[in-house]
Amino acid sequence: MESYVFYQGEILEESKVNISIRSKAFNYGLGCFEGIRAYWDEEAQQLYAFRLKEHYQRLLESCKALYIQIPYTAEELCEWTLVLLRKNNFKTTVYIRPVAFKGSDHLFPTLYDDDNRILIYCQPMGNFAGKEAFRAAVSTWRRISDTMLPPRTKATAAYLNSALASLEALQNGYDEAILLTDQGYVCEGPGENIFLVKNGKLITPSPADHILEGITRNTVMVLAKEELGLEIVERSVARTELYSAQEVFFSGTAMEVTPVIEVDNRKVGNGEQGEVCREIKKLFFGLTTGRNLKYAHFCTPVY
Ligand SMILES: Cc1ncc(COP(=O)(O)O)c(C=O)c1O
Repeated sequence: MESYVFYQGEILEESKVNISIRSKAFNYGLGCFEGIRAYWDEEAQQLYAFRLKEHYQRLLESCKALYIQIPYTAEELCEWTLVLLRKNNFKTTVYIRPVAFKGSDHLFPTLYDDDNRILIYCQPMGNFAGKEAFRAAVSTWRRISDTMLPPRTKATAAYLNSALASLEALQNGYDEAILLTDQGYVCEGPGENIFLVKNGKLITPSPADHILEGITRNTVMVLAKEELGLEIVERSVARTELYSAQEVFFSGTAMEVTPVIEVDNRKVGNGEQGEVCREIKKLFFGLTTGRNLKYAHFCTPVY
C-alpha cells in the first residue's frame, strides 16, 4: 500500500518526493527533527497522538535556534499530522517523524540560506526497545555540549554522536550506552533520558547538563510527583551514582519507559526492574490511549 507523507504544504505519495543528493540536509546535517508516537486503542478502534502540540512546539524552538524558518504554527502542524495519519489509515501504533531542514544544494554549509523545507512521514512502531530491561555501559564518547552542537535542538547532525555511542555499546555486548557530559556528569542515552531512584527520590540530570528535554521525561516527572508522591530532583549526577542507585531507567518516545538493570557490569539494585519503574510504566501505558481522564489532554484522537 502506498505511504503518504507531508511535504512542503501538501500530502503526497512518498515515492513522489525527491530530495537532491546535494542537499545541505544530507551533506551537512543542516536540519532538525521530532519523534512522536500515536497509540492505537484496539478496543476503541481509535488512534491517539501523544502530546502532539508539545512536540511541535519543541520542533519550532529547534528551528528557531537553527535558523530554519517554517511557515506553520504548532497548531497547523498538529492539524497536518492528523490529516496525514488519516490519509495513511493507520490502525496500529505509529511513529511520526517531522524533519525541518535546509534543502538547497549550494556547497557552502551555512544556515544563512532561505531554502527551508519540512516533511513528515510515519511508520508503524511497536516495542522499539525490543527488550524488557537493558544492560548499559558508560560510553567513551562524550555527549556533545550546548556550546558545540546543542542537543536540545534535536539536530540531525547530533545523532552521529548518538550513533557512535550506540555502536560502541552494541559492539561491546551491551544493550545501550549512557553518555556523560564533557564535564563528566551523567547526561542521557543516545535517544532517551535517564532517571535514578535513590532513597525515595527520583533524580534526573538537569537541562543545564546538555540533555534533550524529553517529553516522556516530563510525563514521567508529572506521574511520579502527582501519582506516586515522589520528590523529583533535577541536578548533576556523578557516574558512580549510577552504581549506588536503587533503580535506573530510561525514558523516550521510541524507548518509552525501560529499566536499566546493569550499568558497567554492576547490578542496579538487585538486578531486576524496580518498583518505581514498574509503577511509572503502568501509569504511562494507562494514559497513552486517553483512558486516564486526568491526562486525556495529552492524547489527541485521530479519527
Ligand atoms: C538524545 C535524546 N534524548 C532524549 C530523548 C527523549 O525525548 P522524548 O521523550 O521527547 O522522546 C530523545 C528522543 O527524542 C533523544 O533523541
